[in-house]
Parts: sequence; structure tokens; C-alpha cells
Amino acid sequence: MTHAAPLIDPFARPIKYLRVSVTDRCDFRCTYCMTEHMTFLPKKELLTLEELDRMCTSFIGLGVEKLRITGGEPLVRKGIMTFFEGMARHLQTGALRELTLTTNGSQLVRFSQDLADLGVKRVNVSLDTLDDQKFAEITRWGRLPQVRKGIDAAKAAGLRVKINAVALKGFNDSELFDIVDWCAREDHDLTFIEVMPMGDMSEEARLGSYWPLADLRKQLAARFTLTDLPENTGGPARYVRLEETGQKVGFITPLTHNFCESCNRVRLTCTGELFMCLGQEDNADLRAPLRASPDNALLEQVIRAAISRKPKGHDFDYSRQKVDGQMSRHMSHTGG
Ligand code: GTP
Ligand code: 5AD
Ligand code: SF4
Repeated sequence: MTHAAPLIDPFARPIKYLRVSVTDRCDFRCTYCMTEHMTFLPKKELLTLEELDRMCTSFIGLGVEKLRITGGEPLVRKGIMTFFEGMARHLQTGALRELTLTTNGSQLVRFSQDLADLGVKRVNVSLDTLDDQKFAEITRWGRLPQVRKGIDAAKAAGLRVKINAVALKGFNDSELFDIVDWCAREDHDLTFIEVMPMGDMSEEARLGSYWPLADLRKQLAARFTLTDLPENTGGPARYVRLEETGQKVGFITPLTHNFCESCNRVRLTCTGELFMCLGQEDNADLRAPLRASPDNALLEQVIRAAISRKPKGHDFDYSRQKVDGQMSRHMSHTGG
């Protein structure tokens, strides 16, 4: 591995976290993420598994220490375990500190043991409701029992599970304590996420379902004693401990609290575009330089040039009761 100068952006933020979307496809159709009939990219547009390996290996050579595999649903990408096997070699050398993924849980029965064997320690599973009917409604194509079995399989394989729940007014606000209690019983970490203006949910629908986490937190505080935790996983969540149960609950508040100042990440899409910010359109094509030469020098040069344009932050703003910074991109494109 080369010891190149690390990636530092114009605001002196070291870039150590790469999120990689390995496919835009998914076996679910969550309403806040996708339309029911999505047109997916033709396969030839995708980076091959070998190209994904080369991309990630280049970033690791430039100082990236944390790799999160996302999608779409990463575990529906054909042959994805070959890619995980490749990345496991960087865990073994110590160049990579963490290899992890964000998944909808549908394929965890099949893959949990392999992931654990390759050195994955924890998985983030998206789950917004514990009600079978409501789960089918929000994911359109998903079925809760399958996901629950997946989560159990992950636990049995020794993986730590973090549940990601998108906070949706009129949908899962009535389940706040059920979800918290279930996570306490099952010993899962839990993070709530404010719904972001991605994809094509109508503005009206999104504003109607927007549940500010400040309010969610107030409801939690009425039943539990909350202690703010100083820790930071390198992600945007801020955590509290519920003293009565000892469990940890995180809040990701892209809209009410701007955490951009400590941003340490960039995102690679499955076609090789590098997005420097989840909430901005600017991106750099890394596929062309990757394909242009078998040597990584050109690729690394383009990566550095891209990092030098990383913006200070995003422009999401609900404060005037209208969505500014609406992104035309779907969340599944950049992987959240
Ligand atoms: P850990 O802290 O390692 O558990 O991961 P994480 O919270 O970074 O990853 P996860 O995939 O669970 O992310 C949860 C969600 O947080 C994402 O899907 C996004 O919705 C949101 N998120 C993550 N990073 C950013 C970011 O840089 N900006 C914004 N606005 N939202 C983000
Ligand atoms: N707003 C907030 N979170 C979203 N996710 C998908 N779409 C949105 C959105 N519009 C979440 C998923 C998953 C993570 C990858 O992103 O629930 O936990
Ligand atoms: Fe699939 Fe995740 Fe999007 Fe739901 S939020 S449709 S599970 S990619």
C-alpha cells in the first residue's frame, strides 16, 4: 500500500469514510425512497466487482479507514460476497478499521455468517415499524417476518445490529415506545432519522410526514432520563443513553441540526460517480479515469481534485415550511 498524503478537504476535514453504493436495485420500494415502478440502470453502466475493488482500494490507499457498503440493497448485487472477500484483505492489513453495510435485512438469513466470518462487526438495518401491515405499506414489497428472521440471523452470527428508523408523523409516531422497548429487549442500537427531501415523494406528503426529532426527543424525555453522550461513531448521529434501560438512542437530524462541520465522508455510486455531499448535486466521474488506465495514478489525481471541491454543507431547509434544496436524485442512487 502506498503512503500517499491523506485526503483533506478545503475546510480542513480529513476524509476517512467512504460510502459505496454497489447497486441501485432493491427488493423493496420504500415510499420515501423510491417510486413503485423504478427504472434501474442497465447492467453495463455499473462498475464491475473488480472495478469496485480497485476504487475502494485506491481510497484506502489515500487514507480511508471506514467503508460502508450501501445500495439500493447491497446484498441483492450478484456476487457481492466476492467483493466483501476482497475488502477483508484490507481489514487484515489494518489499513481499513471498519467494513460495514446498511441493509434492509431481507437477505441477512443467507449472508450474516459469511459477513461475520469476513470481519464485519456490525450492520445497520432499516426498519420503520414493528407492525406487519404497516411494514408492507411503507416498503410496498417488503415483508416484516423475513426481515425479523434476518436480524435474528445477524445476531446469531455475532453481528451487532443498529436499527435505522425514519421518523414519520402519522406513521410510526404511535410506535415510538414499542420500537424503543423492542430494541432494549433485543439489545439493538437504534437511530431515528428525519425524512430528507430526496426522490419524488410530493412536497406536501413529505412536509405532512416530517416529524422533527426535537419533538420525538421530548416524548422520550417524558418517560426516560436522557443523558447526552459525547461519542461520535464517525457518522452524523448524536446519541443519548436512556438511564432506565441503559440503551443508546441516536438522532440523525439533517434538517434541524447541521452536522456538516464535522463531515468526514464522501459517497461513491454504483456507476462510479463521487458525490462530495449527500445534499448537493456536484459530483466527479471516477469511472472514466479508472477505465482509462490500468494504473491508479490518474484515478487518484481525479479523486484529489474532487475532494478539493467538497462543499461546506447541504442546503436542506424545512424552516420556512417549504422544502428548499430538494434533490432530484433518489436516495437509492447515493445510498443514504
Ligand atoms: P454509523 O454512524 O457508522 O452507524 O453510520 P451512519 O449513521 O453514517 O450510517 P447509516 O447508513 O446508518 O446512515 C443512516 C442515515 O443517515 C443515512 O442513510 C442518511 O439518511 C443519513 N446520513 C448519513 N450520512 C449523512 C450525511 O453526511 N449527511 C446527511 N444529510 N445525512 C446523512
Ligand atoms: N430520508 C431519510 N432517510 C432515508 N432513507 C432512505 N430514504 C430516506 C429519506 N428520504 C434511509 C433508509 C435507510 C438509509 C440508508 O436511508 O431508511 O436507513
Ligand atoms: Fe430499498 Fe432502502 Fe430504499 Fe427501502 S430505503 S427502497 S430498503 S434502498
